[in-house]
Amino acid sequence: MTTEKPPRLELKHASKSFGRVRALGDGSLQLRAGEVHALLGENGAGKSTLVKLLAGVYQPDTGELLVDGVARTFANPAEARDAGLAVIYQEPTLFADLSIAENIYMGRQPRDRLGRIR
Ligand SMILES: Nc1ncnc2c1ncn2[C@@H]1O[C@H](COP(=O)(O)OP(=O)(O)OP(=O)(O)O)[C@@H](O)[C@H]1O
Ligand SMILES: [Mg+2]
Repeated sequence: MTTEKPPRLELKHASKSFGRVRALGDGSLQLRAGEVHALLGENGAGKSTLVKLLAGVYQPDTGELLVDGVARTFANPAEARDAGLAVIYQEPTLFADLSIAENIYMGRQPRDRLGRIR
C-alpha cells in the first residue's frame, strides 16, 4: 500500500493530430509540488502542443490529463485556469489600443453586481 500523493499534474500517453499532421505522439509528464521542469525538444517536436493540452487550448485525441490524481477534461483555457493551470506564452498577444491594466486583466476583468466591467 502506498500513501504517496498523486502528482499535482499528470499527462498520460497524450496524442494530438491536426488532419494528417501528428503534432504529439505519446506525451507523458508528471509534475509534483515545488518542482521545476524544462521541456526540451527540437523545432516541431510537439512541446507547444503538449503545453496547450495542459492549458485547455486543445483536447487530447488519446490519453489522459489528471489534476491531483483526478481525470479532467478542459473545454477551454478558462476551465484550465479555474483548475489552477496558467500558461505564460513566449509571444503574448497584446491589444495595442487598450491600457496596460486592460491587457493584464483581459478575460478576467473585475465586474460589478450587474456584470459590468468596473
Ligand atoms: N494547429 C496546427 N495545425 C497543423 N499542424 C500543427 C498545428 N500545431 C502544430 N502543428 C505541427 O505539429 C508539430 C508540433 O508542433 P509544436 O508547435 O507543438 O512543436 P514545438 O515543439 O513547440 O516546436 P517549436 O520548437 O518550433 O516551438 C509541428 O510539425 C507543427 O507544424
Ligand atoms: Mg513551440
